[in-house]
Amino acid sequence: MSGITAEYTITLQNLLAAFEGESNAHAKYSAFAAKADEEGLQGVASLFRATARAEQIHLTNHAKVIGHLGARAECEIHPVKVKSTLENLKAALGGETYEIDTMYPGFLAEATERNHTEAVRTFTWALEAEKTHARLYTEAIALLEAGKTDSGSGSWLGDARDFYVCPVCGYTSEVPQEHERCPVCKLPWEKFEVIQ
Ligand SMILES: [Fe+2]
Ligand SMILES: [Fe+2]
Repeated sequence: MSGITAEYTITLQNLLAAFEGESNAHAKYSAFAAKADEEGLQGVASLFRATARAEQIHLTNHAKVIGHLGARAECEIHPVKVKSTLENLKAALGGETYEIDTMYPGFLAEATERNHTEAVRTFTWALEAEKTHARLYTEAIALLEAGKTDSGSGSWLGDARDFYVCPVCGYTSEVPQEHERCPVCKLPWEKFEVIQ
């Protein structure tokens, strides 16, 4: 880490850990999407493709800040354990919950204390977007556990559907025009990506 001042050492370590987490989440969700398609759960596949895209936005944002600190964003991608879609959803929710309750709040506290504003911003955006993922996974798990997979039972799990992803912060929603602007980063809604 030559060239990195001691002042930034911990923030940089945290950025690299977050980059690794997001990169592996992206790989996981992409594999989980393929599995959901295989199981005829096209709506869940759409959700995983949308969240995979959001994690890609997070890892790109983290990588930019890592670059500004003079380091390289590199990490190991672990082999993905693909199980049933219900188990995959639970694993995904577990990952999000760790990021929301533990990882990002800790990283944010450190970056805020040191007034590292770029790190604060990328951590805040990721934290807020992960909450939308946790909400959507929770809903999908409840429907799947209730055996509701087809549209006749009022479920969205069986049919491909649109999700709206903020290309700046990764905020994810199933509601068209949910807001005028992204509630996290204020990007106008018309700039959102539609992912199916
Ligand atoms: Fe996420
Ligand atoms: Fe946003």
